[in-house]
Amino acid sequence: MKVLALNASPRGGGQSKTEFLLNLLVQGMEESGAAVEVVALRQKKINYCAGCFTCWTKTPGVCIHQDDMTKELFPKWLEADLVVYAFPLYHYTVSAAMKTFIERTLPVALPFFEQEGEETHHPLRRDFPKAVFLSVAGFPEMSVFDQLSAYIRFLFGFRTESLVAELYRPAAESLVLPFFQEKAHEIREAFVQAGREIVQQGSVAPETMALLTQDFIEDKEMFARLGNAYWKTCIAEGLTPREFDEQGLVPRPDSIATFMTLLSMGFNPAGAGDTRATLQFDFSGAAAGSCHFRIENGRIEPCPGPAEKPDLTIDTPFEVWMDIMGGKADGQQLFMEQKYKVNGDLSLLMRMNQFFGK
Ligand SMILES: Cc1cc2nc3c(=O)[nH]c(=O)nc-3n(C[C@H](O)[C@H](O)[C@H](O)COP(=O)(O)O)c2cc1C
Repeated sequence: MKVLALNASPRGGGQSKTEFLLNLLVQGMEESGAAVEVVALRQKKINYCAGCFTCWTKTPGVCIHQDDMTKELFPKWLEADLVVYAFPLYHYTVSAAMKTFIERTLPVALPFFEQEGEETHHPLRRDFPKAVFLSVAGFPEMSVFDQLSAYIRFLFGFRTESLVAELYRPAAESLVLPFFQEKAHEIREAFVQAGREIVQQGSVAPETMALLTQDFIEDKEMFARLGNAYWKTCIAEGLTPREFDEQGLVPRPDSIATFMTLLSMGFNPAGAGDTRATLQFDFSGAAAGSCHFRIENGRIEPCPGPAEKPDLTIDTPFEVWMDIMGGKADGQQLFMEQKYKVNGDLSLLMRMNQFFGK
C-alpha cells in the first residue's frame, strides 16, 4: 500500500502534536508493510485555488499554478492508495493550510452536474485516493470536532467507502505532560495500532478508536486552572510556548487551588518512598489561606484548609513560595533570610526536592 501522509501543522521542532501523533500512525502503517511518504505542507509552496476553472476547460485536469502542488503533490496524491490528512483543528475546522491543499484537488473533478437522490455533485475525472483524517485540538471536549466531522462526511457523501477513518484527539497539548503519562502511553499505543489496522483491515477497530479518543481530563475545572496559570506565566515572562518549554519552566500558581493542583502533579512517588507525613502551608499576602498535603503509600492528597496534626507547617508569603517553586529563588537561602518560617519536622523540608519533581 502506497500512503501519502500530509502534515499541515505550521509548527515543527518537536512542538507539533499533529506531527507527534501522525508519526505514531505512520509507525503502525510501516510495521504492517505500507510504504509511507510524509510531507510537511509548511515546507511546500501551495498557492490558493484561483477559481479560474482553467483545469476544467483549457487544460483539463491540469492547474494553472506552477507550484509544488501542481509539480509534485497533486501527482503524488493521485498515485497514492491512501492519503492521511493530518492537521490541527483551527477555529473548529480544517486549518487553512490543509483546506488550501484540498481546494487544489479540484482538477480531479469534471465540471458537469450529476444528480444523486436529492443532491447534485460533480463526477470525477478519475477516482481519488482513500482517506484518513487526523486532527488534534487544544480543548478537552470531543465535541470540538463535530463541525469538522460533519464537513468531512459531507465531502465524502458520495464516496463513503473512500473515507477510511477519522482520528480526533482533543486535549492534545496535555498529552506531553508528565502527570498524564499513563494515559498518554495508552493513547500513543492506540495511534500505532490504528496505523496497523488501517493497512491490515482497512478500518480502525472500535476498541482502538475508544482508546485513542479517550477522555483523560477528569476534572475540567482543574484543566482550566492549569491552562490559565500556564498562559499567565508565559505572558508575565514574555515567552512563547516554545520558549517556555525550552527553558523547562513550570506554570506559576496564582491561587491556593492552583498551587494544590500543581504541587500534587509534581509529586514524585519514588522520591517519597514510604514516607507518611502531612505538610501544611499557611500563606499570607497575595493568596492568603491554608492548605495541606497528606503523603502516604506513594500517594499525595491535597486538602484545603489547615490539617489536624501537620508534621511540618510552612508559614510563608504566597509569592515567596511561588518563587521557590518556579526556581526563581533558592529555598535554603530564603530560609536563612527568614523570608518564611517552618514548624515541626525540619527533615521534611530538607526532603522537599525529593518529594516534588517537575
Ligand atoms: C489559529 C488557531 C486556532 C485554533 N483553534 C482551535 C479550536 O477551534 N479548538 C481547539 O480545541 N483548539 C484550537 N487551537 C489549538 C490547536 O488545535 C492545538 O494547539 C493543536 O495542538 C495545534 O496543533 P499542532 O501542535 O500540530 O501545531 C487553535 C490554535 C490556533 C493557533
